[in-house]
Amino acid sequence: MIHFNPQTRTFNLLLHTSYYAFQVDDQEQPVHLGWGVRPDAAAADDRLSGETVYEQYDPPWSFITQFRPDELLTFGDVTSYGVTLKASFPTLPQPLAAGEHLHLPIRDLRLRYVGYEVVTDAQPGLAPTHGLPTGVSSPRETLRVLLRDPVQPFQAIVCYRLTPEHDIIERWLELENLGRETVTLDVCHFASLHLPNGTTELTYVAGTWAREFMTARQRLPMGTQVIESRSVQTSHNSNPFFFLNQPGQAWEEGGTVYFGALAYSGSWRISFEQLPTWDIRVHGGYNPFDFHLALTPGERHITPAFVTGVSNDGWGGASRRLHAFTQERILPVSAAYPSWRPVLYNSWEATYFNLSYENQVALARKAAAIGVELFCVDDGWFGGRRHDRAGLGDWVVSQDVFPNGLEQLVAEVHRLGMKFGLWVEPEMVNPDSDLYRQHPEWVLHFPSRPRTESRNQLILDFGREEVIAYIFTLLDELVTRYAVSFFKWDMNRLATEPGSVVGQAIWRQHTAGVYSLMDRLRQKHPGLDIQSCSGGGGRIDLGILGRTDQVWVSDNTDAFDRTRIQEGFSLTYPARTMEAWVTHEHNHITQRVTPLALRFDVAMRGVLGIGASLNELSEAELQQYASYITFYKQIRPVIQGGILYRLQRVEEWGASIVQYVLPDGSQAVYSLVIHQHQVGSYRPNPPLRGLQLKANYTVTDRRGHEIHRATGYELMTLGLPRELGEFGGYSRTLHIRAVTFSSSL
Ligand code: DGJ
Repeated sequence: MIHFNPQTRTFNLLLHTSYYAFQVDDQEQPVHLGWGVRPDAAAADDRLSGETVYEQYDPPWSFITQFRPDELLTFGDVTSYGVTLKASFPTLPQPLAAGEHLHLPIRDLRLRYVGYEVVTDAQPGLAPTHGLPTGVSSPRETLRVLLRDPVQPFQAIVCYRLTPEHDIIERWLELENLGRETVTLDVCHFASLHLPNGTTELTYVAGTWAREFMTARQRLPMGTQVIESRSVQTSHNSNPFFFLNQPGQAWEEGGTVYFGALAYSGSWRISFEQLPTWDIRVHGGYNPFDFHLALTPGERHITPAFVTGVSNDGWGGASRRLHAFTQERILPVSAAYPSWRPVLYNSWEATYFNLSYENQVALARKAAAIGVELFCVDDGWFGGRRHDRAGLGDWVVSQDVFPNGLEQLVAEVHRLGMKFGLWVEPEMVNPDSDLYRQHPEWVLHFPSRPRTESRNQLILDFGREEVIAYIFTLLDELVTRYAVSFFKWDMNRLATEPGSVVGQAIWRQHTAGVYSLMDRLRQKHPGLDIQSCSGGGGRIDLGILGRTDQVWVSDNTDAFDRTRIQEGFSLTYPARTMEAWVTHEHNHITQRVTPLALRFDVAMRGVLGIGASLNELSEAELQQYASYITFYKQIRPVIQGGILYRLQRVEEWGASIVQYVLPDGSQAVYSLVIHQHQVGSYRPNPPLRGLQLKANYTVTDRRGHEIHRATGYELMTLGLPRELGEFGGYSRTLHIRAVTFSSSL
């Protein structure tokens, strides 16, 4: 609910358990009042009365005025700290006052309140255009607050879209040049957030290739801390989300936690500022690194969204709000799989670049026999791609690999009852390719400088419309000709030497180009699903998830490493987006040998996939795979559609326990993975969550053996019985079902 008091010009944004408020002061400046948890007993429309003018930042007191928490902070106005926007104007549209001198360019922007409106059809920048529905489509209120510069012909609309049931406010800016000269923006965040003083404990993720999503928790320093990407994809090194709370005042299941995530996959930055006053500000949006946004006369720019919120039930509550929001409002509903994601087979680790019709068809037959539903051929099927030094850019089926064409394999995959998927890396080119030989000018580079290769490849210049058109035609033909139901869309290098025909705009235009390609493909082929991959987990964020169905979280499939990676991923992203493969006993990256049960128990925590070489497995092993897949299909509605609780985290107890529970409490899945267990010690037994107190539950293992029976009350107090044989590498997945259950209990 959005409420405005015209007397004191106070805005109250009321959500399920949180509020957000600001007030326009006597200098026409919207000033932040507060953001946080509402009192427990507050009724839906309880709010700040708006009868008080809450705070005044008196201009003569310049040291105070600098800290004024403007809803939109601009360079040139009073602050000398971080800003939301910084703009340059080529001239002054009004005559100079006597005694003034013109300093060019004019680097100030002052935005003052003009008015507001509440609408229900607003969209942030780069919103999906594919036309596929989302899980929930009920209209949402957006508050649009219009600010204008009294001197320069420039305006900004500050937008707040409310999803009250998840305590989420999406923030973005709509900027417009109202003048006759080009205006340039040197800093453009999507929003700046003001958090209560002392909110200094930051949770985020850090990592690198094969070690993505490592959870990090630390105190903010005085000054500024930054997480960012300086490339045209989201990054392996960090991910655009954060949790912040007062130290010691929040934990997994309790306390007030602020959170935010950018819906953007390009060069982004989130900076956390602790001012000398201990005020906490968070600025999120385009990375100012090499940033330049030119608005020509009359041009508008709408930024993507900064998704923000408050949890009153800890880090777990923040995650659950983001999961539900992503499932209901961001993910497209796949036409092929509207309810849950299929079990996938991917041939990468089985055959790498040694593809042949024979080995793929053999894999497909075995995959179908063990219960796989979607068969994806990875890298190496096209052009001269017999290794990673050639062929990228030539998206034509290789005669060397498939002498009778790919149709033969596709027909067999379909006959076996599976859908067919293909790996592509459309943004790239190997210099050893027909495409590069024809169009060496189509890559990002600076003229007369070397073009540095990474994995032997260069990035196509998505500033060129003809490049995007060319890629669209090729991908469109692939989908049509080979009845492709699934693209694994990869991206395997960082952008360096980002010279483009559109100059610095390439940072934004690359991402916009990728989104537009995906949106157009999905619009034309509603049966096509897409998985985002960037050398593992390099392109995962709420922007790409608006046009993809699932993501590849890491190339590291070692069950131990993966437990931690998946835990960090789960902070923000839901299990139904997390593709996770069971690969070989002897892991190809870490060289560690792990039992099959552990590999399945970890992979079943998301969207189960198989990446092991089935051609090398015995009949008995294939039977075991089949039995796990059958079990997974039973529990996947709970894993992919349930609510997630992290009951125990690896770094605290050496054990990771997650529970998924259907919203009505009728079914749950309990997943335990022990990393380390010292003999003679016991880990605590966590109570389960979200069950019906009075219902009777049966707890079964993968073979359907009942191993426990208890009431919801017992499970939510004592938890599940420990087993004596728990040791490092031990794991189990249990299905918990109500035998007597009433939705009215
Ligand atoms: C990187 C991906 O993460 C892998 O799964 C695989 O698809 C390779 N690229 C193929 O080149």
